[in-house]
Amino acid sequence: MPQLLRAQNLIGKRAVVTNETLRPLYGDALAQQIDAALITIPDGESYKNLETVSSLYDSFVGIGLDRGSVIIALGGGVVGDTVGFAAASFLRGVPFVQIPTSLLSMVDSSVGGKVGVNLPAGKNLVGAFKQPEMVVIDTALLRTLPPVETRCGMAEVIKHGLIADPWLLAHHDPSEITPDYVRRAVQVKIAIVEKDPYEANIRAYLNLGHTFGQAIEAVSGYTWRHGEAVAVGLAAAAHLSVLHGLAGPALVDTVERTLDAVGLPKRFSGYALTDIRHAMDSDKKRKDSKVRFVLLRGIAEPGLYQDVPDALVYAALEAVRSGS
Ligand SMILES: NC(=O)c1ccc[n+]([C@@H]2O[C@H](COP(=O)([O-])OP(=O)(O)OC[C@H]3O[C@@H](n4cnc5c(N)ncnc54)[C@H](O)[C@@H]3O)[C@@H](O)[C@H]2O)c1
Ligand SMILES: [Zn+2]
Repeated sequence: MPQLLRAQNLIGKRAVVTNETLRPLYGDALAQQIDAALITIPDGESYKNLETVSSLYDSFVGIGLDRGSVIIALGGGVVGDTVGFAAASFLRGVPFVQIPTSLLSMVDSSVGGKVGVNLPAGKNLVGAFKQPEMVVIDTALLRTLPPVETRCGMAEVIKHGLIADPWLLAHHDPSEITPDYVRRAVQVKIAIVEKDPYEANIRAYLNLGHTFGQAIEAVSGYTWRHGEAVAVGLAAAAHLSVLHGLAGPALVDTVERTLDAVGLPKRFSGYALTDIRHAMDSDKKRKDSKVRFVLLRGIAEPGLYQDVPDALVYAALEAVRSGS
């Protein structure tokens, strides 16, 4: 790690920011190894907020960070997003490095430069684009990740497989997530954000399954995990692709079999379809009054569709409602 930092010309004062769970596992050792100050924030999505950012600013001032310093985020997506936003805004930007520790953060959130926090009014409503100086991925860290979090990360990997790389759908070994597998999964995101860093067009493909998924999360009052909601969302997007006449029914089979193999849900129960449909309208990713769906003409053939009749959206929701 010290060599990697030097190679990127990151030679200033260092601060590692991690959470309470990861500090004893990896944070103390890393800070010692690279002679960095160590800052700890509480663990959990509920701490991805401006209060935590404000406490980080205080710590940065206390340590004496300047624009030549480097801030290292060691953690899952919550740590990466929160610390990234603090690094983007403190002194109008301090170089920052991502060391993702969860599968989701390795294949998704650590790459692409979106950082930010939640407001009481909604998720990720405050943020910035801040590219990390580097992202260091070590899959050995996944050994301590709880299995449910691994499954949630797999929802994003399956998403990447469906958007661009069918190999990811067929080569999953549940007993071990290998460096090659993660490399290939993250490469899908890298390729897309390099072509469209500010989401003018194709970056939106990365929202496959998220229009449905985030609506389920919202209607559940965020008691559903993101990855599990996205999994149901991927199944719903596959159904909608078929209902809209873009793909044959084999698409649904492939998506549902892949979700089953990983132990991810493909159905929901307990919420009114109208509530889920309305939650889609408040998705901030909408560009105008119509909901924009990412649908598939087949595996690795995504497209954006804004003209989907509501009746088909309801039919897709019905198809992923438990018991249907
Ligand atoms: N910026 C982006 O582009 C982007 C993309 C997708 C998601 N996100 C954000 O990412 C967040 C979700 O990230 P997440 O799924 O990593 O959740 P998380 O950061 O909450 O991590 C999940 C849990 O696993 C623990 N953990 C992480 N790594 C571990 C390890 N190696 N060993 C033991 N425990 C470990 C964490 O402490 C936490 O309790 C959300 O806030 C979401 O909005 C951002
Ligand atoms: Zn996601």
